[in-house]
Amino acid sequence: MNWDDETPDSAVGADPRLVDAGADTEDNAVEAALRPKDLDEFIGQEKVREQLDLVLKAARARGATADHVLLSGAPGLGKTTLSMIIAAEMAAPIRITSGPAIQHAGDLAAILSSLQEGEVLFLDEIHRMSRPAEEMLYMAMEDFRVDVIVGKGPGATAIPLELPPFTLVGATTRAGLLPPPLRDRFGFTAHMEFYAPAELERVIHRSARLLDVAIDPAGAAEIAGRSRGTPRIANRLLRRVRDYAQVKADGHITEDIASAALGVYEVDARGLDRLDRAVLEALLKLFSGGPVGLSTLSVAVGEERETVEEVAEPFLVREGLLARTPRGRVATPAAWAHLGLAPPKGAPGQAGLFPA
Ligand SMILES: Nc1ncnc2c1ncn2[C@@H]1O[C@H](COP(=O)(O)OP(=O)(O)O)[C@@H](O)[C@H]1O
Ligand SMILES: [Mg+2]
Repeated sequence: MNWDDETPDSAVGADPRLVDAGADTEDNAVEAALRPKDLDEFIGQEKVREQLDLVLKAARARGATADHVLLSGAPGLGKTTLSMIIAAEMAAPIRITSGPAIQHAGDLAAILSSLQEGEVLFLDEIHRMSRPAEEMLYMAMEDFRVDVIVGKGPGATAIPLELPPFTLVGATTRAGLLPPPLRDRFGFTAHMEFYAPAELERVIHRSARLLDVAIDPAGAAEIAGRSRGTPRIANRLLRRVRDYAQVKADGHITEDIASAALGVYEVDARGLDRLDRAVLEALLKLFSGGPVGLSTLSVAVGEERETVEEVAEPFLVREGLLARTPRGRVATPAAWAHLGLAPPKGAPGQAGLFPA
């Protein structure tokens, strides 16, 4: 939900925290290596797993191509991983692209017309696709057909092109931004939830095993508690703690090592990182707890509006530290307490201001 009637959502996703980074770093290679390969390996998200398992099993039993699937949820919860699992479970090839990569309907037509029967087309950040491409996608999803436009101006003709049946897997961090006609064309929508600490501990133990890192249960719990309910963050923190353990100790991760390492990386006991704290500090110190508009707040912390909205805010809201109100962003009493500050008398953030 976007309460600010300021600039519209931009079409570029420049912030690496918002997308699966494409850069060829060691971390990205490791992230790929840590992806679960099938539904049984996929930890947590019980409901989504059960539902998806039924959808895929039924399609397999019918010898049919699976229905289109929409995956929505915050970055790092496993959407890309699930799309690959869907293809693996269907023993189908997968083509991966993203909304921002498809600027013209022609780009999409080229991809669609080269799909094999049963192929999975993964469209990441589907809410960032251009409008003409989106309209082409409606017909492709429903009728497995596209109209290829040949020529320009009054002489242009539409040549209908049949497509083989395929499974579109769309991923979005903002299901609410999808136009209803697009949302309605997905046979199954999975909403990914944040992970419970115990589930993140399992993710960490699994990753540690794959990375050949020794870790105590208490060490895993310490990392899980600071991972903001997000497997990608859990894996990233594990790798940083591993670095610390290698350099400062014998490589074995204990609770103390994990805690000391995360202190060095400025991840606090509640999982807030530098950006989260910068947002909270600006809100409290510069705007007396709000209400303040998202754009103003973003400028104050020197970040893109989208980064603040999609990376920091969902977590701060979930932690009960920040509220989105019709008048802007407001700090809760817990935010003042977390930063060890006393709320000014009568400041926003006092009881009674929050819609239930
Ligand atoms: N349910 C899960 N179980 C184990 N690891 C997971 C799970 N979900 C995500 N991960 C790990 O988290 C990382 C990020 O997942 P990804 O699918 O790229 O997230 P998204 O596409 O939603 O941003 C991957 O390296 C993956 O190994
Ligand atoms: Mg992804």
